[in-house]
Amino acid sequence: MNQVFETILARRSMRKFTSESVKPELLDMLLQAGMSAPSAVNSQPWEFVIVTDEAVLEKLRDALPFGKFHAPAAIVVCGNPVKARNPSGLMFWQQDCSAATENILLAATALGLGSCWVGIHPIPILPRLVRKALRLPPWVTPLCAIYLGHPQFIKNAKSKYDPAKIHYNTYRQ
Ligand SMILES: Cc1cc2nc3c(=O)[nH]c(=O)nc-3n(C[C@H](O)[C@H](O)[C@H](O)COP(=O)(O)O)c2cc1C
Repeated sequence: MNQVFETILARRSMRKFTSESVKPELLDMLLQAGMSAPSAVNSQPWEFVIVTDEAVLEKLRDALPFGKFHAPAAIVVCGNPVKARNPSGLMFWQQDCSAATENILLAATALGLGSCWVGIHPIPILPRLVRKALRLPPWVTPLCAIYLGHPQFIKNAKSKYDPAKIHYNTYRQ
């Protein structure tokens, strides 16, 4: 099978990691993947906060009620309208940052790392707590945290393919 297709099918959320750290070269490859994502009018409104310091990881866990996983690294994907290359695309910042996030998850899978997307925006209060934990300025909005590390076990690929969700040409009720 084609390798990219295999990686897409193999990606699963991993919430248990070994204590082995993630090499900076691998984190850098993930960021390359993230920044290769498409964005509306090529605005690239994203910024990435890499967290490997255990004290900051603990603050992140404290801020995230559904993301209290012990991982050696996290990438917090943020939207920053100030650094966007084209302000006319700004209304799409969540899609742009989500595309970057999925690229990072797939690259992590391809590199043998486990990963889990943890939503932040638009859950009320969470962006404020994460801003405080990471000292983000008020105009930078964290969309999600991606926990990363070497997986404690291998999760099998799980097909979610569902023909009932497919419509050809026009919607069939
Ligand atoms: C927008 C979004 C937010 C998510 N938030 C969380 C979260 O807060 N905590 C968590 O454990 N998983 C979270 N997930 C991961 C989903 O639970 C997971 O993708 C889903 O259960 C399907 O499992 P799979 O990723 O193994 O295919 C989130 C995924 C997305 C796309």
